[in-house]
Amino acid sequence: MGEKKRVFSGSRPTGRLHLGNYLGGLKGYIALQERGDLDCIYGIVDLHAITSPYKSKSLQQNIREVALDYLGAGLDPKKCHLIVQSQVPEHVELAYLLGTIYPVSRVEQLPTYKEKKLEQPDYINVGLFYYPILMAADILIYKADLVPVGKDQLPHIELTREVARKFNRMFPAKSLRDRRTGGKVFTEPQRFATEGEYVPSLLGSGKMSKTIKGSYIELTDDLKTIKGRLAKTPTDIGHGKKIPKEGGVANLLKFVELFMGKKTRQAYEKQYLGKGIKYAELKEKLAEAIYKELKPIQKRRKYFEEHPKEVDKILEEGRKYCSKIARQTLHEAKKAMGLI
Ligand code: TYM
Repeated sequence: MGEKKRVFSGSRPTGRLHLGNYLGGLKGYIALQERGDLDCIYGIVDLHAITSPYKSKSLQQNIREVALDYLGAGLDPKKCHLIVQSQVPEHVELAYLLGTIYPVSRVEQLPTYKEKKLEQPDYINVGLFYYPILMAADILIYKADLVPVGKDQLPHIELTREVARKFNRMFPAKSLRDRRTGGKVFTEPQRFATEGEYVPSLLGSGKMSKTIKGSYIELTDDLKTIKGRLAKTPTDIGHGKKIPKEGGVANLLKFVELFMGKKTRQAYEKQYLGKGIKYAELKEKLAEAIYKELKPIQKRRKYFEEHPKEVDKILEEGRKYCSKIARQTLHEAKKAMGLI
């Protein structure tokens, strides 16, 4: 464990991961694992997934899908640890403790909480309210220094920093000999941003999201499916005086930038201001570029699909490694709070 800086992040098992999860989350996870000087932990956060309507019969399968997407995308168990959140129950206990020092009014103000209430008006449960506190606990229980997440998670990272600060102030732990935190129980984490920190929806407004049908491309999509999904992105007559800043065309150009590079985007922008873009052609080339990136991911994924015991072993190793750290931090937190 030692003195290495630590990384934590996670994704909800609500089905297969999409390009938003990949570009905003996973690519950051991989970049940090490849650095070699960090202790990386990546979770499948099932306890967060159950705060939205879900089918209990599919949950185990969905957890497996995310594990496969992680491994397929290139997370390497030799370089990082993978866990299923509910298998390290210390996360929940710490979340409760942190919940006792965080004001209700601050959670109520969170844009993410407000959005969720609008998204699922018939399912505004207490777990949903606790969502950001549990996320803070996920990060703080490992005293993570870096958290690779998309831009949408920024309010949660801010909250996590605030909770850590408040806890350290309220409960100084002078006797703690943790050199990484300088004698405090918690570390204030930083967000690690990727180039694709905000991936737009294919539908022309808002972000790519699993809960919005037609908005996403999954990592397991084949070329035909990708073409079919892109076909639905709204376009215009193909030319104009200004490059659109929002809507279908703006989003298509963003995807061109992310998968074909800035130069290709500039070439299309030139066409837009001049002779016009042929969208059928653009979408065809874009679909191919996306598929080119996904193909090796799908190949690796298939290997793990065919070797389920290897996946079980990876998750079990992750659980053991993380439980040890989590138990220690929870002990420190309880001690500082006077519970032990
Ligand atoms: P989740 O499951 O919604 O998303 C997983 C990751 O994908 C990123 N993401 C996106 N990035 C860019 N553009 C998009 N359209 C897009 N959609 C999703 C998310 O930012 C995230 O990085 N609350 C977290 C899960 C979580 C967590 C944690 C993350 C629970 N505990 C602790 C980090 C640390 C979430 O909803 O992820």
